[in-house]
Amino acid sequence: MLTIPAEVAEQHAELIGIIDTLVERHGRDRSALIPVLQDLHVERRRIGPTAMQVVADRLGIPVTDVYGVVTFYSFLGMGAVGRHVIRLCRTISCGMAGAEGIARHLERELGIGFGETTPDGLFTLEWANCIGRCDSAPAMLVDQSAMGHLTPELVSEVIAGLRAAAREE
Ligand code: FES
Repeated sequence: MLTIPAEVAEQHAELIGIIDTLVERHGRDRSALIPVLQDLHVERRRIGPTAMQVVADRLGIPVTDVYGVVTFYSFLGMGAVGRHVIRLCRTISCGMAGAEGIARHLERELGIGFGETTPDGLFTLEWANCIGRCDSAPAMLVDQSAMGHLTPELVSEVIAGLRAAAREE
């Protein structure tokens, strides 16, 4: 049963349909939470408050549990709406290896700040905590791929490559 008001459910009928399909696929209990959220993120790019409530209702768990998972697993990127999400690690090894300089370079290249999405919807820029590539700091995630030994030149190359790929589609 849904706990959201009927008019909200009506407005979000498509979203609810997607969630129902995913719940059908992954199961109706807590163990389905992460697979449902991962697939939902692939489909919708953003997991907002309504989606979290519907997932909680369908799986029979508190919405705070869903919220906790979405925010903990930053790859689900609740606020991330860009087609590509770049997450620069700001934890200590990366910080000491020059993440701050890479951050300024990313902002200049993309023309946006952290937590923002480019007007063309191609990139969202976010911070991440340690992504397990401390040995090749500074590091970042580009969508699901980790990249280390970052330099301004490498960052520019990666962004140019993604822009070129988008133009070709
Ligand atoms: S501190 Fe940046 S990847 Fe570990």
